[in-house]
Amino acid sequence: MRIDIATLFPEMVDNILAESIVGRARKKGAIEINCHQIRDYTLDKHRRVDDIPYGGGMGMVMQAEPIYRCYQAVCEQIGAKPHTIYMTPKGSVFTQSRAAELSRMDNILIICGHYEGVDQRVLDRIVDEEISIGDYVLTGGELPAAVVTDAVARMCSGVLSSPECYEEESHFSGLLEYPQYTRPEIWEGEAVPPVLLTGHHRNIADWRHEKSLEITKEKRPDMYEKYIAQTGEK
Ligand code: ADE
Repeated sequence: MRIDIATLFPEMVDNILAESIVGRARKKGAIEINCHQIRDYTLDKHRRVDDIPYGGGMGMVMQAEPIYRCYQAVCEQIGAKPHTIYMTPKGSVFTQSRAAELSRMDNILIICGHYEGVDQRVLDRIVDEEISIGDYVLTGGELPAAVVTDAVARMCSGVLSSPECYEEESHFSGLLEYPQYTRPEIWEGEAVPPVLLTGHHRNIADWRHEKSLEITKEKRPDMYEKYIAQTGEK
């Protein structure tokens, strides 16, 4: 899969996505991520990318043309129209299931806004989907783009060692994940739950499922109710 990110701060996004699991996946070619400087696509001799809003108001608005030209360059490179996402607090809230769906696409382009926003005309022309990473406002779309890219990339084949790595996690099944323990067996007088030392796979799986239900009920009653309604479990 290839993900392109159009931003005024390409190093900011690229540096985050050069580390750890995503960074390694990029190096071995399991996923391709390209960060584009929108300023490189302006026709203005001062490399200007924003202007004051028509109708008045605070701040600056990103102009349509540099973003559109950046989009066209990406289309030309990949020989197709990428699924184009605009990161904005006005978008639909990002979820694990949306991340899973996006991970099955071949090409995604993420547009990062800044200042007071982006000229609506270019958004109407090129954007397929608007995504928010939560009900709060950040200074720009760069961190949200990195969040979406990380969540999507880790579900692309060849990024994690196996799908089981994410299938067991919080949110994948609709429940929060059970607690994990590692050596030593006793730490500060606290023992690891005995069932985990038995090697009995069925009992361990049952215990973990019970814990998942318990934790989800306590921390996310909304998710718990939905899960119970869907599965008919107790
Ligand atoms: N840009 C600023 N805040 C944002 C948010 N919460 N989600 C996505 N993009 C944003």
